[in-house]
Amino acid sequence: MKKRVFSGIQPSGIVHIGNYLGAIRNWVDMLDKYDCIFCVVDLHAMTVPYEPKEMPNCIRETLMVNMAAGLDPERCTLFVQSHVPQHTELTWILNTCAPFGDLARMTQFKEKSRQHRENVNCGLFTYPILMAADILLYKSEVVPVGEDQTQHLEFAREICRNFNARFGETFPEPQPKYTRVRRLMGVGGKAKMSKSLNNYIPLLAEPEEFFSLLRTAATDPARVRRSDPGTPEKCNIHTMHLGFSSQEDIAWCEEGCRTAGIGCVDCKKRLAGNMDHSLAPVRERYKKYADQPDYVEDVMREGARQCTEWAEKTMQEVREVTGLR
Ligand code: TRP
Repeated sequence: MKKRVFSGIQPSGIVHIGNYLGAIRNWVDMLDKYDCIFCVVDLHAMTVPYEPKEMPNCIRETLMVNMAAGLDPERCTLFVQSHVPQHTELTWILNTCAPFGDLARMTQFKEKSRQHRENVNCGLFTYPILMAADILLYKSEVVPVGEDQTQHLEFAREICRNFNARFGETFPEPQPKYTRVRRLMGVGGKAKMSKSLNNYIPLLAEPEEFFSLLRTAATDPARVRRSDPGTPEKCNIHTMHLGFSSQEDIAWCEEGCRTAGIGCVDCKKRLAGNMDHSLAPVRERYKKYADQPDYVEDVMREGARQCTEWAEKTMQEVREVTGLR
């Protein structure tokens, strides 16, 4: 039997190359080796302000871009969190196994409550419990996430241990699988690439957009003039080359940077070409899915049906061991 993998995707609607290199691409590599479930986490998204009218579209968009990026619905299960109500049922039960003190220490909570002072709601606080429910509901063994989720995942493992200790061995303890890629900075070079900071390169950018977004992007600050040599490891453009370029091109840009043999513009032009080339199939698939709304609808419906079946099986066991009958 293949191990079960679970991960969640925020329905932000926009997917950028940071999401692609840091998450989606690693998931694609796992599709055949594991039994993978990917979930668009709309209930998590409600913890910060959003426009309800836009939500259905964001969910669809997110799903389609992820499918286009390689989450082939034939090789994994894709669904929307709120379509499987067992997530919220298990969340309540896990609430009673979740240490309050740990929640209060979550750095993401502290950050987000600073960002959204006008709405510091309890959902923002208990967000990691819903995430633990997502994972445990399918008895997932492996959770591929970025390093920013380390604390949340440790917390899910703790909830899992607490539940098992209190009610008997029910859930396997999920193992994190952190991604290899160094974290990608935004085009400004100072902060992580993110939608909210508007410092991103969209995965579905038009061919000519790549260079125009890269043109002004930050590089190694030591390269003030064309003749100043640089250190590739200090350059965010180099990190992108590692994601999109061939070994030959990577060697060319490293050598050229260290010796000032090439300028940053040359390096960026080569990168833009490589990005365009590697993402052309993603754009193609996206167009195909966008032209088949019924198919996307079917994927969501079938995912919800399958996950409801698995989730209900777990919940029957949970209700049994907790004495809720
Ligand atoms: N919190 C995750 C994020 O911000 C998304 C997520 C929700 C998730 N549920 C999950 C990730 C379960 C892994 C497993 O990206």
